[in-house]
Amino acid sequence: MELLNKRPDDMARITTKELADAFIAEQVAEVRAQVGDKKVLLALSGGVDSSVVAALLIKAIGKQLVCVHVNHGLMRKGESEQVIELFKNGLDANLIYVDATDRFLDLLKDVSDPETKRKIIGGEFIKVFDEESSKLEGISFLAQGTIYPDIIESKGVKAHHNVGGLPEDMQMELVEPVRLLYKDEVRVVGEALGLPHDMVYRQPFPGPGLGVRCLGAITRDRLHALREADAILREEFDKSGLAGKVWQYFIAVPDMKSVGVRDGKRYEGWPAIIRAVNTTDAMTATIEEIPYELLHHITDRITHEVEGINRVLLDLTPKPIGTIEWE
Ligand code: XMP
Repeated sequence: MELLNKRPDDMARITTKELADAFIAEQVAEVRAQVGDKKVLLALSGGVDSSVVAALLIKAIGKQLVCVHVNHGLMRKGESEQVIELFKNGLDANLIYVDATDRFLDLLKDVSDPETKRKIIGGEFIKVFDEESSKLEGISFLAQGTIYPDIIESKGVKAHHNVGGLPEDMQMELVEPVRLLYKDEVRVVGEALGLPHDMVYRQPFPGPGLGVRCLGAITRDRLHALREADAILREEFDKSGLAGKVWQYFIAVPDMKSVGVRDGKRYEGWPAIIRAVNTTDAMTATIEEIPYELLHHITDRITHEVEGINRVLLDLTPKPIGTIEWE
């Protein structure tokens, strides 16, 4: 079946629940016509696009959709759990959860070069997904969360950028129900499908996940410290209302220690670096002015609650010259 890959000039921007509902009804019918009684496979990362596609396909074809969620061990705190809770328990999805943490972290051991780390994570992701899909029988379609900017900005860029790029030789017809939508429309459709607000408005998260924020060679203890410190930052941004206002915020932890003091004793630890930026297109970014009182509170919590962290730093660098991620 030949699917449209150019957004019709007269296609209205989906901004309301009514428009989203109409889009959903149309796509449900289109997907059913395309897929029939066959099975569809989807790599469900938990990001906005794949989550919306999953919810849409569950509505259209229920258990004919098989979702595979690969936990590469580099997710933010609670994210894989949220995927399972929402899709498996909430939407009764046919979801295969693969905890591949050890595989990824073993391969990444002692690897400090950022590009090599990215390649390892991307390559292993494809391998794990391939292994899982080869265990399944009768899959005829591959669903993807391709959105319109991916098509117009050249797919090549995103495929290289994203861990989610899938093997070329997967000979399956594609199901891409949100391929003509812009990001803001995907979010409106996600909410109309009943997905939680925090999932639909989730911050951009690099495919290689915390792997680009745990700088240098990843160790389990430093990765753990990063994840916990990041969770505190998110919690405090939620509580203070900054979460809905700041485009992207996270912690990076470099591979270096400094001397500190705790309980009257020398305490060597890593610094946690706060990065909070605003942007419209991620090409340039400005710094969010976080109130000092909140910064003190976050510092206090991170240094007291997170084993291994003895300083909190704030990154004041706009893009350019700093990129958003530290890598
Ligand atoms: P930089 O660090 O280049 O990041 O200023 C720009 C935006 O892209 C996100 N980013 C990624 N997104 N896969 C993605 O989907 C990736 O591999 C990746 N790496 C960076 C980054 O978080 C920021 O929002």
